[in-house]
Amino acid sequence: MGLNMTLGARWLLFATLFASLLNNSNAVDSGSIIPLYIYPVTNSGGNAWQALFDAYRAHPINTWAIVNVNSGPGGRRKDANYINAIRDLHAAGIKTLGYVLTNYTRRSEAAVRADMDRWKQLYSPTGIFFDEMAYDDVNSKVQYYQNLNNYAKAQGYTYTVGNPGTRTIARYFNTVDNIVVFESDTGFPSTDLICSQDTNGKGRQSVSILPYNIGTLNTAAVTDAKACAGFIFVTNDSGNNPWDTLPGYLTQLFEVLKG
Ligand SMILES: *[C@@H]1O[C@H](CO)[C@@H](O)[C@H](O)[C@H]1NC(C)=O
Ligand SMILES: *[C@@H]1O[C@H](CO)[C@@H](O)[C@H](O)[C@H]1NC(C)=O
Repeated sequence: MGLNMTLGARWLLFATLFASLLNNSNAVDSGSIIPLYIYPVTNSGGNAWQALFDAYRAHPINTWAIVNVNSGPGGRRKDANYINAIRDLHAAGIKTLGYVLTNYTRRSEAAVRADMDRWKQLYSPTGIFFDEMAYDDVNSKVQYYQNLNNYAKAQGYTYTVGNPGTRTIARYFNTVDNIVVFESDTGFPSTDLICSQDTNGKGRQSVSILPYNIGTLNTAAVTDAKACAGFIFVTNDSGNNPWDTLPGYLTQLFEVLKG
């Protein structure tokens, strides 16, 4: 009887601890990596990024805006609107990633390095976003991203993100700081799908997701996804460029992402 009591007490303790762990998953902070492919000034001269500033001020999470002048840093001339808008993001506490295209390694490393140089000269973003990242198990492709990441860090960029848009081979997690493992309009991804990504031991901070064409924000699904995705952005936008508006639920999303 005494033994049974002890086992029962142990079980109760275990169940209580487990339940509190589950409840505490709410307390996990996730950040947001946001494709901000929106010209910073509206036609009427307003701030086209205002909703992002508002969401961040209400719930200041670890926020990275991917800035994209023209599928990269654009031409040689500085765009004063971009200079001012990026300066304002940084002043508010939002960090930036300069967009560069890699075309699954089809672009030469030299061309990608030149884009990183131009980003630095013109706008000086905090880090670099490598779009169209390869995700096949090929040594030369892994090396390509390793080389570009090393170059980015040597130029003073502090953070790098790669975007295959789908789950990838674990060793790519050794090449950049964070990888987008889901960019799709096929509905909010299941926790199983996100958590099945092998991150080579890097963990949730190395994982981000970008579901789009999501009409209504399912806050329970976002809360669950936080367990395996350190960075989450969701939008109701869709079509050819689902990143050219910000969703009406952005502040609500930031509230859920905040622990
Ligand atoms: C990517 O590479 C393919 C094959 O070389 C080319 O046809 C395509 O135009 C490239 N895409 C971009 C966006 O540069
Ligand atoms: C997204 O939702 C906002 C309202 O929150 C709406 O104004 C906008 O038209 C929607 N965008 C798309 C592409 O459906």
